[in-house]
Amino acid sequence: MRIPLMAGNWKMHKTLSQALELVNALTGPLADVSGAGKAVCVPFVFLPPLADALKGTGILLGAQNLFWEDEGAYTGEISPLMLKGLCDLVIIGHSERRQYFGETDETVNRKIRAAMKHGLTPIVCVGESLEQNEAGETEDFVSGQIRAAFRDIGPEEAKKIVVAYEPIWAIGTGKAATPEEANRIIGQVVRATLAGLYGHEQAQQMRIQYGGSMNPGNVEALMAQPEIDGGLVGGASLKAEDFITLVRAAAAARN
Ligand code: 13P
Repeated sequence: MRIPLMAGNWKMHKTLSQALELVNALTGPLADVSGAGKAVCVPFVFLPPLADALKGTGILLGAQNLFWEDEGAYTGEISPLMLKGLCDLVIIGHSERRQYFGETDETVNRKIRAAMKHGLTPIVCVGESLEQNEAGETEDFVSGQIRAAFRDIGPEEAKKIVVAYEPIWAIGTGKAATPEEANRIIGQVVRATLAGLYGHEQAQQMRIQYGGSMNPGNVEALMAQPEIDGGLVGGASLKAEDFITLVRAAAAARN
């Protein structure tokens, strides 16, 4: 059975003291929650202090991006070698990075391969825009994003990768996809495309999260869907109380 992963994506929020306050509020209540993985993906500068604060808590730490080279003249970038040992996960290809920072299917693929090379677990984001959704292009577009992201990645590596289906129109809007629709796209598009690449059995084992306005009010219904293996959560991960509710719901859904 797949163990869900509830991961917070803090995006560009919080100061260091607020960041420490938030993780310190999470560690106690989440200590006894088993049955779901839990993670916070934070701005680069918070990684060293939070790595210390989270040691031994069972809460995984993630970055929100990386560059694909190990080192070199790339002013302002962070390499997988620098992240190695500091965090467990790294978000790759978030729609905000595709939209504002020129990420393409090709750079996403390069970044995934760089992360894998250094033992970091990628959370790879895919998802369609409102226009694409309304034009009936969701299936083809998302399937294409998956095939491009996993290009030249063998089955053993692919197994470790987490995918997050995040319809862009649902991100930060308060309008989540319906549980049935999220389940359908994750099962019939994301997992089906992975099955085409790696076979049915392997695709059944891979973790695919939902992201986009997941909150304490809709988490139970989303997690009740069999294809949804947790969430990648923006806004609701910034408040300890909300995020604790989401992690507990993910764990309860599979117990
Ligand atoms: P919200 O949960 O704020 O909609 O953000 C989702 C997201 O983009 C997580 O990566």
